[in-house]
Amino acid sequence: MAELSPRLAAVLEALPLREGLRVLEVGCGPGALARAMAERVGATGSVLGIDRSPTAIQAAERVSDHGSLDFRVAAIERFRLMGRERPFDLVVAIRVGALDGRQPELEAEALARLASATVPGASVYIDRGDPLTAIPLH
Ligand SMILES: C[S@@+](CC[C@H](N)C(=O)[O-])C[C@H]1O[C@@H](n2cnc3c(N)ncnc32)[C@H](O)[C@@H]1O
Repeated sequence: MAELSPRLAAVLEALPLREGLRVLEVGCGPGALARAMAERVGATGSVLGIDRSPTAIQAAERVSDHGSLDFRVAAIERFRLMGRERPFDLVVAIRVGALDGRQPELEAEALARLASATVPGASVYIDRGDPLTAIPLH
């Protein structure tokens, strides 16, 4: 696995990850954090990385080598579970305007989409705070 930047390594350590969790990363870019999280949640968990940029998802898929890791082109303000997909236990979004205040016009819809795609009690972790802030979704 390629090494994480110090910034993303700090995020990884701050997240309450454990074996078996089902994790959604919004705005995963080329997927470095998603790959590291997939190691933490193990074979009984899973990580889905989404990004609205097809180029980012293509880059992520090129280096995806973990069975419990998937990537998908999707904008969070239009995201929905597919088919029989199970809801997520934890969401993380790092430097994503729709959730960090830079695109306030998208935030309400993004949070509503996340609420409907997560289990009761789930939170979205964003890169405010030291280093993260958890926003309850329910
Ligand atoms: C600044 S990059 C951060 C990438 C990665 N999270 C990191 O911290 O290194 C923001 C990423 O979020 C994606 N993005 C921005 N707005 C989005 C949205 N509304 N839905 C999904 N992805 C989005 C962009 O395409 C880009 O890949």
